[in-house]
Amino acid sequence: PEPGWTTRADVVIVGSGIAGLTAALRLRAAGVERVLVVTKDRLAAGSTQWAQGGIAAALGPGDSPHDHAVDTLVAGAGVCDAEAVAVLVDEGPEAVRELIALGAVFDHDADGEISLTREGGHHRDRIAHAGGDATGAEIQRALIAAVGAAPEIEVIKRALAVDLLLADDGGVAGLTLHVMGEGQRDGVGAVHCRAVVLASGGLGQVFSQTTNPSVSTGDGMALALRGGATLRDLEFVQFHPTVMWLGPDSHGQQPLISEAVRGEGAFLVDFEGERFMQGVHELADLAPRDVVAKAIMRRMLDTGHPHMWLDARHLGAEFWERRFPTILATARSHGVDPVTALIPVAPACHYASGGVRTDLLGRTDVPGLYATGEVACSGVHGANRLASNSLLEGLVFSRRIAQVLPAELRPWSEAAPDRRTPGLVPGEARDELQEVMTSRVGVLRGATGLAEATAVLDKLGGQEAIGIDLAAWETTNLLTISTALTAAATLREETRGSHWRDDHPERDDARWAGHVDTVMTDGVA
Ligand code: SIN
Repeated sequence: PEPGWTTRADVVIVGSGIAGLTAALRLRAAGVERVLVVTKDRLAAGSTQWAQGGIAAALGPGDSPHDHAVDTLVAGAGVCDAEAVAVLVDEGPEAVRELIALGAVFDHDADGEISLTREGGHHRDRIAHAGGDATGAEIQRALIAAVGAAPEIEVIKRALAVDLLLADDGGVAGLTLHVMGEGQRDGVGAVHCRAVVLASGGLGQVFSQTTNPSVSTGDGMALALRGGATLRDLEFVQFHPTVMWLGPDSHGQQPLISEAVRGEGAFLVDFEGERFMQGVHELADLAPRDVVAKAIMRRMLDTGHPHMWLDARHLGAEFWERRFPTILATARSHGVDPVTALIPVAPACHYASGGVRTDLLGRTDVPGLYATGEVACSGVHGANRLASNSLLEGLVFSRRIAQVLPAELRPWSEAAPDRRTPGLVPGEARDELQEVMTSRVGVLRGATGLAEATAVLDKLGGQEAIGIDLAAWETTNLLTISTALTAAATLREETRGSHWRDDHPERDDARWAGHVDTVMTDGVA
């Protein structure tokens, strides 16, 4: 629609978690003059704030980037990009040390060394954590403080990034925003700029239950797709095995019980008290996330129970209070005391391993458009992200973008404002979308269910919103991404990583060792 206001910046960064704020700070430090961060809500409203377990890097004695790479590649089930993984693990330790220098305070042991713990798929203790189980909150706090101390970084809050403005050569010329209630810049406006960095996070709200906050509606991926970028590996949506089960009617963001709780000795049991992870994998309860999620799901299907149990009683009150204060308080607020009771857990959507395809420097295939963090598919996660590699990815690849982008700023170009009337679907379509995505395109998939989901999504696409508001934009983005994800999941006729097909239960390297890429042609993904 016609923009009601315009402004200018050299670089616009979409999103304000670890990836976005690291990019902003680094680009300013690299001499980019006008850096603008736009974020859909408050600065801290994204997923970074909620990260519990920590950030993985080869920081401990006896560990090495090589060992970290091996675990990352194994978890990724054959579709990681080995070069991208090498970048992640080689640059990870230095990037974490820089985060510490910036002011993030990590937990230390009695000898003053960074405390390192273990999570699923790691063969070593290499997860640095803060505040026990509040790692993301501490990182977010430190980054917001650093951005606050760099007042030359402009921030527009409560601003949904709608669409790219493209120059004649198909490259970035700007971005349209829909700002909700921010005074002079209210409503739809345009920012003319020389590059856009997408750092807008994931798509958890595609599903009815997710660990992601309400802002994770796939906006950046949908925007990139509409702007001509390629999405990759969308079918690999990771379901976290141990999300607290709050009852059949609980929807939206659900409480995460970090893998670090299992890293410290907790274990899964079924309703008979059997430790069912033993014998499933050599790492038992600390097997890679997809293996644990599938084992829980299998047990749920076999027994008809809607959840399984996590037993962490033996960790004791003092340990719980010191090591996992956030999880303890949350579980207690829901009436479960993990010191004395089993915690009901079930898998729920946690992380998009795929996203906007980038090269090793965060470039997408639209000139001037970069992507970093969960919105991106840099190739480090493959079919199943290794625990605590996500904060690290945002950190490492935002640093890399800042190394090249200043020399790649595009010339200013005045793209014509986008006057198209968007075909938005109504916000009311969201519940049905989430329901069908959860039941048919969730942990367990099959051709029949995927076809049913496709039909429901097609039907929802035929509805038209009356007004243009945030709910309609978000639901339209959810529909775009759900459609692409369902198509990718339908195409991949095998089981690999977090993509589990009951009609194709084996991994099929002969046919499916590659990727499913998604592009938009004539408005269709
Ligand atoms: C967790 O703490 O279990 C989540 C860590 C992650 O998603 O990497």
